[in-house]
Amino acid sequence: MEIIIQTDAAAAALMAWVIGKELRANPRLVLGLAAGSTMEPVYRHLVRMHQEEGLDFSRCRTFNLDEYAGLAPTHPNSFSTYMRLHLFDKVNLRPENAHLPNGAADNLEAECARYEQLIQGSGGIDLQVLGIGRTGHLGFNEPPSPLDSRTRVQALAPLTREQNAPLFAPPGQVPSLAITIGIGTILDSRCCLLLATGARKAQIVAKAFAGPVTSMVPASALQLHPDCAVILDEPAAGQLPGAEDYRRAFEQEPRWQPFRQWRARALAPRPPDKK
Ligand code: GLP
Repeated sequence: MEIIIQTDAAAAALMAWVIGKELRANPRLVLGLAAGSTMEPVYRHLVRMHQEEGLDFSRCRTFNLDEYAGLAPTHPNSFSTYMRLHLFDKVNLRPENAHLPNGAADNLEAECARYEQLIQGSGGIDLQVLGIGRTGHLGFNEPPSPLDSRTRVQALAPLTREQNAPLFAPPGQVPSLAITIGIGTILDSRCCLLLATGARKAQIVAKAFAGPVTSMVPASALQLHPDCAVILDEPAAGQLPGAEDYRRAFEQEPRWQPFRQWRARALAPRPPDKK
């Protein structure tokens, strides 16, 4: 597992840059996607890269990590709506290639089995992007989550429901259950890329990536993955031991040189959109 620390805006830019690089190298990429506020700047970069750099999603297939149980895909608070709003409606991804679990399925257990099967049938996830919850969850794998778990129905922790409440209208209606792909499903991905930003993630980041691997901190399972990068902005890295070594290693690493050049352009101030 590689830990990368970037100044605030460059962290999301790096995740978008890696997605763009992998998609150009393999237009048929099977891409695992995540919802959440952390991902919003990543999706803004991808939309801009599609519009300005010709990044092509036409042959890509996507699988989202999770969905709230009980919410139809068209529900304003569903992750399906979130994805359409932030990415799917703004790039040339074919709607039939964009997959999320159906939270409104009559039989949630059968829906979990169907979704896990769909991922396996696609050949598995090539690149899985991830955020982290303050409970240490990946997707909605709340502690304790077996490290070999598969797509399943998961009860949401009180902290997670509280954290996601501001995104819900009316507030306080956050569902108590969700469908999430499992930690085992995530670990099967060929490459994992996690992004954590902001000081409110500093404590769980230090626990997950500088502490023991345990089902009580599900994200710690990524320490076992052979090809995983954890991208942090400065505030999220605030409690991580060895941060200075990670910063130095990144700036000296030759394989990140193309990103260091792209970063300067991608983060340059831009004129406001014309009305
Ligand atoms: C969400 C999602 C996760 C996400 C996490 C962090 O509810 N289930 O996939 O990574 O919780 O969310 P945020 O980025 O808003 O902090």
